Amino acid sequence: MADHEKFHYKTLEDLKEEIKKLNVSIHLNEDMSVFQNPVRVGKKIASNALAVLPMEGCDSNRDGSPSELVKRRYKRFAEGGAGLLWWEANAVVEEGRANELQMMLTRENLTQFSELMEDVKKTAEKEKFHQIHILQLTHSGRYSRPVGHAAKPMIPQHDPILDGRCGVNDHTPLVTDEYLDRLTDRYVESARLAKAAGFDGVDIKACHRYLISELLASHTRKGKYGGSFENRSRFLLQTIRAVKETMGSDFIVACRFNVFDAHPYPYGFGCDKDDMWKFDETEPLLLVKQMCEAGVELLSNSAGNPYYIYPQVTRPFDLSSMGIPVPKEHPLQSIDRLFSFTRKIQQAAGNVPVVGNGYTWLRQWIPYAGAANLKDHSCSFVGLGRSSFAYPLAPKDILRTGKMDPEKCCITCSKCTQIMRDHGKTGCVIRDKEVYAKLYQEARKEAEQREKMG
Ligand SMILES: Cc1cc2nc3c(=O)[nH]c(=O)nc-3n(C[C@H](O)[C@H](O)[C@H](O)COP(=O)(O)O)c2cc1C
Repeated sequence: MADHEKFHYKTLEDLKEEIKKLNVSIHLNEDMSVFQNPVRVGKKIASNALAVLPMEGCDSNRDGSPSELVKRRYKRFAEGGAGLLWWEANAVVEEGRANELQMMLTRENLTQFSELMEDVKKTAEKEKFHQIHILQLTHSGRYSRPVGHAAKPMIPQHDPILDGRCGVNDHTPLVTDEYLDRLTDRYVESARLAKAAGFDGVDIKACHRYLISELLASHTRKGKYGGSFENRSRFLLQTIRAVKETMGSDFIVACRFNVFDAHPYPYGFGCDKDDMWKFDETEPLLLVKQMCEAGVELLSNSAGNPYYIYPQVTRPFDLSSMGIPVPKEHPLQSIDRLFSFTRKIQQAAGNVPVVGNGYTWLRQWIPYAGAANLKDHSCSFVGLGRSSFAYPLAPKDILRTGKMDPEKCCITCSKCTQIMRDHGKTGCVIRDKEVYAKLYQEARKEAEQREKMG
């Protein structure tokens, strides 16, 4: 692996040279017309091949309804005109919230969500954009923190590497099979509410080592949800089937899932038993096949555990959040890993569209890498994560001019992640500083005070 470097490519030629030097499979194409192609998702059509990836702001109202910051974020995303808007993590149960301001659609706040959706659609229509809206349904599992600052982990397995880092001790009980049996119904209920609010579909989130993602890796768990692949994938597949059966064919069931945890056996998914850095595609590809058979019509691959010490596996960066070591690989190698996963998953998924990710570090060269991946069917959508916080109008610029403005691009400084780690409300501290510079400082100060008090 090559040394980590910060982004420094002034011209496309500079980037090409680095790609060649590192011998990574990142291709660049200057024909931007591919972004204009409509993409079929189930029975719906996205008007172009750009997507906003789920990016949570940790800033809903206490009852889970959209706050002013949430409304602002989604209207900005709508103005950007991406064909697919994949809404952030929305908890299906109170105890599974990652923070007390995580989005949570309920019967009681359905009207507020419906009103926001109407506004968001009107905003897009003004610009003549038609967007597909997917709501990401989640249970945060070992990363649950539903009230205040205290972790309230709900774990499917003990993990000697992660337990100590998230408030789990030897006596912490595992979530029971009965709890998981009932939880499937809560995903179904959230899907019903999402449809009523105007969403086109829901994502049964299984990435980033939240509950379903960790279930996929629960080799040591006993009973019907652990051990064999059939058992580890049981919860995800039964939930997909239950949602599909209830919602019918007009409603999209999607899945954003980890294909590779970068975590050692027997605690990781998609990793070689002897070398956790080696991808073992056997189970992820089988899972794709089974999810498609169960009725999934949209996929997004992700990887890694953003809470652990290798966040570059999820999101390649220049600078990381505090306490994270400099990665022992070049960001282009991290991007290559994510692109190659998408390529594999898209191949296995056939006509089911796959949303690619890991583009943001490339800044103004994103459209060139995206165009190449779309052109050779390495993905069906080019998904933008941190870029959407920093530069929500990037899709519009790509569609209309084929270019992104380097002065507006995300600089992958990880300040948005730092705010999350500090339990604050997050967004782009650099490009949206009028709102988020102050929120960053406040959250930092409070976190430092908590650290001092032990
Ligand atoms: C602040 C922040 C919030 C995020 N929220 C979510 C989320 O709610 N759901 C999810 O699946 N991924 C989430 N992600 C991951 C992104 O969707 C994306 O996979 C990652 O940032 C890599 O894409 P990028 O290089 O375009 O940023 C989040 C990432 C960050 C930095």
